[in-house]
Amino acid sequence: MTSPLERARRFEAEHERAIAERERPAFHLSARVGWMNDPNGFSFYGGKYHLFYQYHPYDSHWGPMHWGHAVTSDLLHWEYLPCALAPDTPCDDKGCFSGTAVVLPDGRHALMYTGVAEVPGPDGRPRQVQTQNLAFGDGVNYEKYAGNPVITAADLPAGGSPYDFRDPKLYLDADGRFRCLVANDRLDASGKRLGGQLLMFESDDMVHWRLASVPAQNPGRLGMMWECPEMFSLGGEDVLLISAQDLLPEGLEYHNGNVALCLLGRFDAQTGRFDARADQAVDYGIDFYAPQTILTGDGRRVMIGWMQNWDTCALPLDTAPWFGQMSLPRELSVKNGRLYQWPIRELDALRGACVEHKNVLVADGEIALEGVRGRTVDMEIDIEPEGEIFTRFEVIFAADADHRTSLGFRPRESTLKIDRKFSGSRRAIIHQRRAEVRHAGGRLRLRLILDRRSAEVFVNGGEKALSATLATPLSADGIRFFCDGQCRVNVRCWELRG
Ligand code: FRU
Repeated sequence: MTSPLERARRFEAEHERAIAERERPAFHLSARVGWMNDPNGFSFYGGKYHLFYQYHPYDSHWGPMHWGHAVTSDLLHWEYLPCALAPDTPCDDKGCFSGTAVVLPDGRHALMYTGVAEVPGPDGRPRQVQTQNLAFGDGVNYEKYAGNPVITAADLPAGGSPYDFRDPKLYLDADGRFRCLVANDRLDASGKRLGGQLLMFESDDMVHWRLASVPAQNPGRLGMMWECPEMFSLGGEDVLLISAQDLLPEGLEYHNGNVALCLLGRFDAQTGRFDARADQAVDYGIDFYAPQTILTGDGRRVMIGWMQNWDTCALPLDTAPWFGQMSLPRELSVKNGRLYQWPIRELDALRGACVEHKNVLVADGEIALEGVRGRTVDMEIDIEPEGEIFTRFEVIFAADADHRTSLGFRPRESTLKIDRKFSGSRRAIIHQRRAEVRHAGGRLRLRLILDRRSAEVFVNGGEKALSATLATPLSADGIRFFCDGQCRVNVRCWELRG
């Protein structure tokens, strides 16, 4: 009999051929076939970066979760490996949810993931519970630990929900101890959900775990359940990445729904508590969630996120054979008390010849610039007012007679808006989002990266990022500049070779 893993491996190998290379992003990881969500197990093992992902190979919609798998040397050119995990044991037969990876001293690659299984609930009806599980492998094949699950409801603090207990971030610390940070919801005595908390567990052998502390609890302000936690030190601070569900908006900082955000502050190893000094959104665009990071050999903290969001999942057409792509890997830093992000420097190697236009006047209308077009593009735009401050500047891209997506900067409101309403989307999802931007009297620096079906924008050297996927036909490759008022722009544009 074919096992669920063999079946998935056979299916993906057969069906990926139906997807033309040019239909995929050129240098972003996309689902090998079917559906992709969160990045998982981002790690360096056997001389390559490994990235796994939440995966439903059989359909371009979410379904029983597998782990897809890909490797890369430069974080831009990905090679698919066979599906790594399938839902095939009593602890995970409803899904292998998100998790992480570490390299063990004995050379094995260890994966820790959330297993979803069904048990009778308090009212006798079936209810899904979540536990933490292990698998060990050689970089291609992974065997689930026979003693799974290793962390269960029995390890939860009072009030911890066994139904929302997931996304372990596994660490092998310098003291030889294993630690893992797991997201959990709290329930009151009547079973009402109270909001997320993060639990830190410790172990000497990865198999026996004890609850060490509760580093953070949702103060009530930041949505409900928290997912996909990760903590690391950066630039003298501790950073806690969280993907929060069910947020209410706060100005232009947080939008409604699912939001990847970060807390900046200090983790006190004595008390096990994280004291947050500040919090902020990670990405201010439309499509970004559930990021994970890696520390590269040369000391860079690099983050990759799912370039999608649960509230904006909409297939361009029902016939699409795949859905879901990752963001660009981004180098993180803490500057001016905020989390900054910048495309990994490896991207520079993909740049072809540079087309440069200096000091171009954009006055009361729209212009195109010689040689500036394309859908795999890296473009730097410096904007400066000419005379009286302008009302609105726009860069319009992925454009033809029927399509356009724009980035609109209104210095008097200090906002930058991404607008893909006319990008070719046929769905009633969010198409516009605004971010607050800092600027000196109308001067703003933008870097825009296009990779066929996405746009990622970095403002003022990485102070803010905005990401959005695009359903636009690839033939729409026009780029134009517009100003309501007058401004001058310096534009440098590179075609990116995938
Ligand atoms: C986040 C998430 C995780 C979960 C996974 C399921 O996007 O909901 O919490 O493990 O997706 O696919």
